[in-house]
Amino acid sequence: MSIEIPEGLTELLQSFTVEVLRNQPADLLEFALQYFTALKESQSNDELHHSALRPAKAVNFIEEAMQIDSENGEDEEEDDDEEEFVAMDECAYFAVCAEAFNPDDDEEDKEPRITYPKTDEQRQRLQEACKDILLFKNLDPEQMSQVLDAMFEKLVESGDHIIDQDDDGDNFYVIESGTFDIFVKTDGTERPVGSYNNRGSFGELALMYNTPRAATIIATSVGALWCLDRLTFRRIIVKNNAKKRKMYEAFIETLPLLKSLEASERMKVVDVLSSKVYSDGEQIIAQGDMADCFYIVESGQVRITMKRSRSKKDLENGEVEIAVCSRGQYFGELALVTNKPRAASAYAVGSVKCLVMDVQAFERLLGPCMDIMKRNIANYEEQLVALFGSHVDIEDQNA
Ligand code: CMP
Ligand code: CMP
Repeated sequence: MSIEIPEGLTELLQSFTVEVLRNQPADLLEFALQYFTALKESQSNDELHHSALRPAKAVNFIEEAMQIDSENGEDEEEDDDEEEFVAMDECAYFAVCAEAFNPDDDEEDKEPRITYPKTDEQRQRLQEACKDILLFKNLDPEQMSQVLDAMFEKLVESGDHIIDQDDDGDNFYVIESGTFDIFVKTDGTERPVGSYNNRGSFGELALMYNTPRAATIIATSVGALWCLDRLTFRRIIVKNNAKKRKMYEAFIETLPLLKSLEASERMKVVDVLSSKVYSDGEQIIAQGDMADCFYIVESGQVRITMKRSRSKKDLENGEVEIAVCSRGQYFGELALVTNKPRAASAYAVGSVKCLVMDVQAFERLLGPCMDIMKRNIANYEEQLVALFGSHVDIEDQNA
């Protein structure tokens, strides 16, 4: 059975506990009464940051191994930047910063930070594993550095259950190496729905939406994962997503492809999109490559070109332009739908910004849009016949 933790409970209890540790009250019950009364009043008055009692120190808990190494627990007038470090175990520290978690508060420096010290070699491997993680793409350098600091390594064996469906979400996982199967249970029957092969990430859904785990992930080889704890994920990634929603809400509403989705489903699409910029002439997709992403053009234009099969002597090695995509149009769906290599190449014309979605999110979220995509895919063939003047089977383009 899984029990859903109400949103905000963890932060509330953590903030309260830190206040207790700082103030060491003789009468805990009386202190709790004052604390929560003051918190309620300050919230009602919308004066959270000016409350006399300042019910607003946040802390993380990792296991019980916690000792506070505070220089002075009574110092109420400390600087906002001041941090207290709490030893968790031999290699992990986190800082307790000055204000409670508040999703609307932009001053992220005030929130709790976890740091797992790493060797140069570990940090290099971690950076390499994270460089293509879409959820990290929109982070600014400071946020990215906090995320990297907070990540810790986990080695896995074949057969290990990394995540079990319906459990509570603890970590977000980035794959450094190893293969993993994805299973989803519906009506009591577990079915394989995909796999990860030495790259990618998983475990974001339960943390983003405060829901039970939506799938089971099992290692099918030895492997190495980098884990990001729930609190840091929520503090940085979820908060960033709120900004992303505001930024892309209007644009996403205009996309014909997503018309068949509910408004809430469209917002989930925004949550998994990341924005990538390409310079003039840069290759976005290479024909024949294996596919792992889907693209929507946010600005600029993208040329789609195709190499004809070698048997067509006249066009051997030449690339022919077959389409141009502009704002609001998408490309890169065909290989994901057909499970084939990329049928064409894509190049930026001028400076181009695309919204990118990974294959797992594509499969999970864009099922209801499949009809529109398939209708467009049917048009590709006509388009090619018109261009090349003979029947062309688009699935044979990579021969
Ligand atoms: P989460 O629900 O936190 O834990 C299981 C993870 O599996 C989920 O996040 C996704 O990251 C990942 N996943 C991959 N494919 C699917 C799918 N088809 N349905 C649900 N989750 C999926
Ligand atoms: P994909 O094969 O994944 O990568 C290349 C993309 O080019 C392809 O998906 C389509 O989205 C896009 N494309 C546009 N026109 C065509 C076409 N006529 N044939 C094949 N792909 C096309």
